[in-house]
Amino acid sequence: MTMQTYNTNLQSSYNNPSLQQLHQQLTNMASTRCLFTILLGITTYWTLFSLSLGNPGGLFLFPQFYDHACPQAPAIVKSIVEKAYAKDPRMAASLLRLHFHDCFVKGCDASVLLDTSGTMVSEKRSNPNKDSLRGFEVIDEIKYALENECPQTVSCADIVALAARDSTVLTGGPSWEVPLGRRDSLDASVQGSNNNLPAPNSTLSSIITKFKLQGLDIVDVVALSGAHTIGDTRCVSFRQRLYNQSGNGVPDFSLNPAYAAGLRTKCPSSGGDQNLFFLDLVTPFKFDNQYFKNLLVYNGILNSDEVLFTQSAQTMELVKLYAENNELFFEQFAKSMVKMGNISPLTGPMGEIRKNCRRVNHY
Ligand code: HEM
Ligand SMILES: *[C@@H]1O[C@H](CO)[C@@H](O)[C@H](O)[C@H]1NC(C)=O
Ligand SMILES: *[C@@H]1O[C@H](CO)[C@@H](O)[C@H](O)[C@H]1NC(C)=O
Repeated sequence: MTMQTYNTNLQSSYNNPSLQQLHQQLTNMASTRCLFTILLGITTYWTLFSLSLGNPGGLFLFPQFYDHACPQAPAIVKSIVEKAYAKDPRMAASLLRLHFHDCFVKGCDASVLLDTSGTMVSEKRSNPNKDSLRGFEVIDEIKYALENECPQTVSCADIVALAARDSTVLTGGPSWEVPLGRRDSLDASVQGSNNNLPAPNSTLSSIITKFKLQGLDIVDVVALSGAHTIGDTRCVSFRQRLYNQSGNGVPDFSLNPAYAAGLRTKCPSSGGDQNLFFLDLVTPFKFDNQYFKNLLVYNGILNSDEVLFTQSAQTMELVKLYAENNELFFEQFAKSMVKMGNISPLTGPMGEIRKNCRRVNHY
């Protein structure tokens, strides 16, 4: 099977025309006449940097970031993700979700990886994460390997971004070039984790609002929700739909009755909170557009999944489109993942490169 890498048109220094011109100028410095042009170029460069909003360090991420300092970094990440996936196929889903839960809280800065220490409460304790988020040991193993290879060079935030891409590819999904150069945070925000991440019983408008706060639009909401084509959910995340959706003692009307009956046998009205269920009942281990096909027949397991098909005409059209056209879904998923990966990265002098992803270097 051939793998296609999608051009995600990211806003990196490598395809920004004026930065390309500057690069050309810097490599052609033959005469002194060039000096003026260079100074002008540098001014333009810094202006562009300072204009990039929501990025405290102001520098752009770009895929070649480690090409000189640690060229083997992406290959090391990939090999350890592959090993973890071979041992536990669910791990691909868990690593993909880890990137999402990192990026929505203070940006993609590995804040989600920090353990509780001193006055800082770990994001691992938030409602969306506790007894649910996983993959931390795999990130630790990657970090350990990278510290041996290139000490204090590759950030934990970039490891998470690369692992999310590799996980998508391993399960049959699209590939994309991962912009790199993120740095790691010095703290975490459990409040941010509780407030910014949508809940499984959220309404569509609340989900859209939370994505919008991160600079993501409706197209991103629908495409990125397609990540639920792999992985598991616990009974506690959707029980409400099976028994008492609106406080009137009846199940959710937008849940297929046959599917609901099956779910009720292993997700009782009380107890069994941690029992696991596939997010995509048809092809649970394959990254494909089956998730969207499920929504068309009311077989989305989470309320937040099915509302994409039932609560707005716009998102309904996108669900239908991706259900019909896998290629289109893959292309948009890759684009939206790059966009999500660009949420407020720490760059330049901001943050640090952690030696251990679970704690800051000086604590
Ligand atoms: C649109 C709003 C979203 C909501 C409300 C949501 C909610 C959830 C919930 C409740 C679970 C199950 C957690 C549990 O019961 O333990 C879950 C799992 C998962 N989510 Fe989301 N999610 C959303 C968007 C996303 C996005 C944007 C991604 C990635 C791009 C993602 C990737 C995943 C994956 C892969 C899993 C399975 C993880 C595993 O098996 O370990 N989700 N999500
Ligand atoms: C969603 O679930 C939480 C936790 O179970 C509950 O407190 C809240 O009322 C629910 N929200 C809606 C809109 O049903
Ligand atoms: C459904 O929920 C409502 C509101 O939370 C509660 O008052 C009612 O007793 C519940 N009904 C059943 C059948 O569990």
